[in-house]
Amino acid sequence: MRPCFAPWDYPSWRQTLANLIERWQAKLANLREAGRLRTLRIAKGADFSSNDYLSYAATPWPATSRDGTALARGGSASRLLRGHHAIWDEVESALAMWHGAEAALVFTSGYAANQGLLTTLIQPDDFVASDSLNHASIIDGLRLAGSRRFVYQHCDLEDLDRGLRAAPAQAERFIVTESLFSMDGDVAPLADIVSVAERHGAHVVVDEAHATGCFGALGSGLVNQLGLRERVLATMHTGGKALGVHGAYVCGPELMKQMLVNQCRHFLFTTALPPVVGSWWLDAITRVRDDDANRTKLHAATSLFRRTLASRGVQAAGSHYIVPVVLGDDKRAVEAAACLQSVGLDIRAIRPPTVPEGSSRLRIAIHANHDDALIVRAASQVAEAIACTA
Ligand SMILES: Cc1ncc(COP(=O)(O)O)c(C=O)c1O
Repeated sequence: MRPCFAPWDYPSWRQTLANLIERWQAKLANLREAGRLRTLRIAKGADFSSNDYLSYAATPWPATSRDGTALARGGSASRLLRGHHAIWDEVESALAMWHGAEAALVFTSGYAANQGLLTTLIQPDDFVASDSLNHASIIDGLRLAGSRRFVYQHCDLEDLDRGLRAAPAQAERFIVTESLFSMDGDVAPLADIVSVAERHGAHVVVDEAHATGCFGALGSGLVNQLGLRERVLATMHTGGKALGVHGAYVCGPELMKQMLVNQCRHFLFTTALPPVVGSWWLDAITRVRDDDANRTKLHAATSLFRRTLASRGVQAAGSHYIVPVVLGDDKRAVEAAACLQSVGLDIRAIRPPTVPEGSSRLRIAIHANHDDALIVRAASQVAEAIACTA
């Protein structure tokens, strides 16, 4: 038996695939030449790159429900068919209650949730204003929704207002923004965005992927912390970041949930998450609501890191536990990251197209379990790596 199989090992296939092979080789060669070829690497060193902000990801989640009943490890079918289980009703009620929302609906990932939510809410004759640094899943969701859209300058309220003034009179209007930006570590001026929306009769959709778990008395995110729940249409949250579980969910009105259950292709045409994952969600929700201790540690570790970096003369962007140090040049960012990895710090370079051209950076993610000694060492070594590559 052949240990592995590449179709182009066979002369007849090679001929059929010749164009594709050429196309892929050219694309990959271009990426290599531009210093943008990505490869998969096994994680090594202290974790300053994952989104495990509250350090939950290593939790050995149980394989049973709380009463000890074994739970299926396969999703089996779409939620609308045999993929729906009582545990998902429990999870969605707990999520809605946690966020003070009327309803919640679980998706298989944040990518699917954003695309599904946006394509269900927004029709081609609507008008959408979207922050220029919104995540790819939002950009792709809006492309798929096919409405007119205006990309406003990052967090720029005047530009947002200008864009909305140009919206056709009859169009339903939406504003879509992240709350804590994933690559910039800064926070959208949510209260002001909501005020602009209200002036223009626009609906606000907030992606809370990076804020969920880490802000507010119960960790339910920035929208809740700022008391804006009743003034936004919908929020999107992922489990794969601070909550340490797989999947994502959307919070909003019950009627919107009914629309999603009936019309959202990213919900309908995919296999449900396994029920055993539902039990992890219940554990994660219970844990995170009461975990002010880890939230406090996370924010304290962030302040120490940012203070230490500043004292070593390094300017970081943003203001929270996602700490970007923008170096501009791709090669410089890659070299600085390699230097940090060689001293046991898993810090990665982020390059275009993930971030805009000319803004390659180190993206450092602080976690609740980083102790003071590690934080100070990491900040000092980041400063050294930057100086070495200058
Ligand atoms: C802002 C933002 N939204 C959505 C997603 C997608 O979430 P998930 O990883 O659960 O697909 C991400 C993940 O990188 C993200 O950063």
